[in-house]
Amino acid sequence: VQALVDSFKEGGRLKPAFLFEAYLREQDQKQRIVWIVLVDGRPVGYVTLNWKSQYQLFARENMPEIMDLNVLPGFRGAGVGSQLLEAAEKEAATCGNVVGLGVGLYGRPDGGYGSAQKLYVKRGYIPDGKGVTYKGEYATPGEVYPLDDDFIVWFIKKLK
Ligand SMILES: CC(C)(COP(=O)(O)OP(=O)(O)OC[C@H]1O[C@@H](n2cnc3c(N)ncnc32)[C@H](O)[C@@H]1OP(=O)(O)O)[C@@H](O)C(=O)NCCC(=O)NCCS
Repeated sequence: VQALVDSFKEGGRLKPAFLFEAYLREQDQKQRIVWIVLVDGRPVGYVTLNWKSQYQLFARENMPEIMDLNVLPGFRGAGVGSQLLEAAEKEAATCGNVVGLGVGLYGRPDGGYGSAQKLYVKRGYIPDGKGVTYKGEYATPGEVYPLDDDFIVWFIKKLK
């Protein structure tokens, strides 16, 4: 946990210890799996697979969700993100035919969610067709929402 906190301090998005502690606990309970890529013993990327998604469609369909894919800025563009996705997809395929994930809508000078959106489409993820959610609820046309990390579009990939 501490190695992840220390490493991802520089990533621009603070990742608190309690987040990784929760992942570890959920992994012990067989609710989540975490993969970490190490370079010279240092974590440079990680992803999790959550067997019990909180997103209503995935929960209803019993669809596992790939969550919190993250690669340190200095290690991007070298296949680390793809390697992590491959591991999570392979595991999801042991229990079903599909896997889902959610991605934010905004880009930023450092990329924001733009790189992730491109990567998911390249890997065969397609939108679930339900529109976007804000804090887990479907957004309503004409309403105003902050363009933050809770404004999400959801994708699904067929694995077989
Ligand atoms: C999204 C993210 C995880 C991708 O990680 P990454 O390690 O850069 O991913 P990859 O290296 O596998 O792929 C990124 C690009 O490099 C390319 N690439 C992969 N391996 C490569 C290689 N060996 N040589 C050259 N290019 C390569 C990929 O084709 C991809 O190209 P694209 O930008 O045109 O889509 C990373 O940008 C990130 O952490 N972003 C911020 C957090 C985030 O948005 N997470 C997703 C939340 S839903």
